[in-house]
Amino acid sequence: MLDSQLSELESRAVSLIDSAPDSDALEKARVEFLGRKGSLATIGKDMGKLAAEDRGRIGKLLNAVKQNLEARYESRQAAFQLGALNSRLAAEWLDLTMPAPGARPGSLHPLTLIQRELEELFTSLGFAVVDGPEVETEWYNFDALNIPPTHPARDAQDTFWLSDGSLLRTHTSPVQVRAMEKFGAPLRIIAPGRVFRNEEVDASHEHTFYQLEGMMIDRDVSIAHMLYFMKSLLTAIFHREATVRLRPGFFPFVEPGFELDIQCLICGGSGCPVCKHSGWVELLPCGLVHPNVLRSGGIDPDQWNGFAFGLGLTRLVMMRYAIDDIRHLAAGDLRFLQQF
Ligand code: DAH
Repeated sequence: MLDSQLSELESRAVSLIDSAPDSDALEKARVEFLGRKGSLATIGKDMGKLAAEDRGRIGKLLNAVKQNLEARYESRQAAFQLGALNSRLAAEWLDLTMPAPGARPGSLHPLTLIQRELEELFTSLGFAVVDGPEVETEWYNFDALNIPPTHPARDAQDTFWLSDGSLLRTHTSPVQVRAMEKFGAPLRIIAPGRVFRNEEVDASHEHTFYQLEGMMIDRDVSIAHMLYFMKSLLTAIFHREATVRLRPGFFPFVEPGFELDIQCLICGGSGCPVCKHSGWVELLPCGLVHPNVLRSGGIDPDQWNGFAFGLGLTRLVMMRYAIDDIRHLAAGDLRFLQQF
């Protein structure tokens, strides 16, 4: 009775083991027949219930079946392992005589590209490129620029104050004063750099962005001079006539002050998130330097005057490359950066 049951079990196990399509199926078969709770183990446990005269014979038979199945299992398992090894070797095969693909060279950040372009333009016009600290004093960032402590213009630039009373500069304009102190008049400088404002971040606002400050001081500088430089600037950047408009603008450090807007190049003026659906983007505030600012820099306003401008470098980059979200610039996403 048990004999026929055993031989039936054996032939079922053999066919499952021999035909297992992969090592998972093979493992399943092993657990079913050879596992700790498998069929053979169960029969083994019931041996004690057998009559003494059957026990020896069945025991031998059980052992033979077990050995047969184990051997088949092992040879099938070895075959699967060899197959896996071979396909891995085939997939990971490496021809060491092939030339290496080479490292992909990095690319310059669009801000760097535009900054360099502008530095080249302005140095060709006789301007020096100067630098200033990102951690500034209240004096250079505000007071020296004709923005006294009670002035409402201070609230317009949400400032990151540091615990020692200094601040993260809210604009590049403090470099105007530092440059006047250092070089005196006449003066032609640009100062590109990073500025910081405690702003809510969205598609067109970042807490950290870039400006490029410009200043020219000489004798009898007029708005006509200023316009000439502003137009050269925009033509150089956009390689075409950009549509601009000039509005009166108020900045304590210039008088008169202007706001030069450029028609939005993302949407062509029809309205989009970058231009806040107005069709225009404020790009280039400028004006004639206020006498108080010249005095702060140690320059006599009766002898000299000049113009200044504060170009929104980040905005400009977005216009130039039709980038619709300012957050792309600092996100470090290679899919974005590799386009430049
Ligand atoms: N500093 C100003 C700002 O960030 C921009 C600015 C306006 C700079 C007029 C200038 C200027 O030099 O003349 O809001």
